[in-house]
Amino acid sequence: MKMKHKVKIAPSILSANFARLGEDLKMVDDSGADWVHVDVMDGHFVANLTFGPPVIKKLRPHSKLPFDVHLMIEEPEKWLEAYKDAGADRITFHIEACRHSHRHLARVKELGLASGITLNPQTPICEIEYVLDQCDQVLIMSVNPGFGGQKFIEPILKKISDLRQMIDNKGLETMIQVDGGISLENAQRIVEAGADVLVMGSAFFSTDDKKELVKKVQAL
Ligand code: DX5
Ligand code: ZN
Repeated sequence: MKMKHKVKIAPSILSANFARLGEDLKMVDDSGADWVHVDVMDGHFVANLTFGPPVIKKLRPHSKLPFDVHLMIEEPEKWLEAYKDAGADRITFHIEACRHSHRHLARVKELGLASGITLNPQTPICEIEYVLDQCDQVLIMSVNPGFGGQKFIEPILKKISDLRQMIDNKGLETMIQVDGGISLENAQRIVEAGADVLVMGSAFFSTDDKKELVKKVQAL
C-alpha cells in the first residue's frame, strides 16, 4: 500500500439536533474535524427526508470547514448548481441514481467542486471502474443509506480493500471515504482496509469529548 496521508474525519450533521443546527455545526468546527458531512435525502432515493439548498445556505456562514455534501436523491444532475450556490465544496452522488455519471462528474468539476461518487452496499466497484479517474473521492456506503445509527456491514471491509487496490493499480489519488456505522471500535480496521476519510454521525454526536475522538481518528 502507498504512503498514506493523515486520516480525515467528516462528522455527519444528520445526527445533530435539527432544532439547533447552527450550534451543533459549531461543535463540529471546534472539534478539529476535517470536513462537515451533509446528508441530503429526498424521500425517494432513500426512505427519509432531510434538508436541501436553502438550509445548507443558512448553515454555510456558521462553519469554516469544507461542506462535503452527500446527495441521496434521484436525478442529482438537476441539482448540482443549486448545491454549489448553497455552499457545497464537495458533491457526492449515487451511481444508482443516474445513468450518465461520467457527464455529471465532469459537471461537478466544471463547477469548481471536488467530485465524488458513492455506491450502496449491493453495488460492485466494477460499476465505477471507468469513471474512477474523474473522482476526487469514492464514498463506500457501509450501511444502507437513509438513517444514522445503523450497524456497519462487515463484508464491506473487503470492498474497501478491493477499491484501494483498483485505485493504486491505476496510480490515482482518489480518496476512499466510508460512511455508516463507524465508531472508534471499528475505525482502525476500516483504515487498515484502505479508507482515507471516515464519516461519523451517531458516534460523533453521542461522544462528550469530541476533540479527543477526532484526534484519535486522525492518528489512526
Ligand atoms: C446514512 C448517512 C450517513 C449517516 C451516518 O444514510 O449517509 O452519513 O449520517 O450515520 P452513522 O455514523 O450514525 O451511521
Ligand atoms: Zn452520508
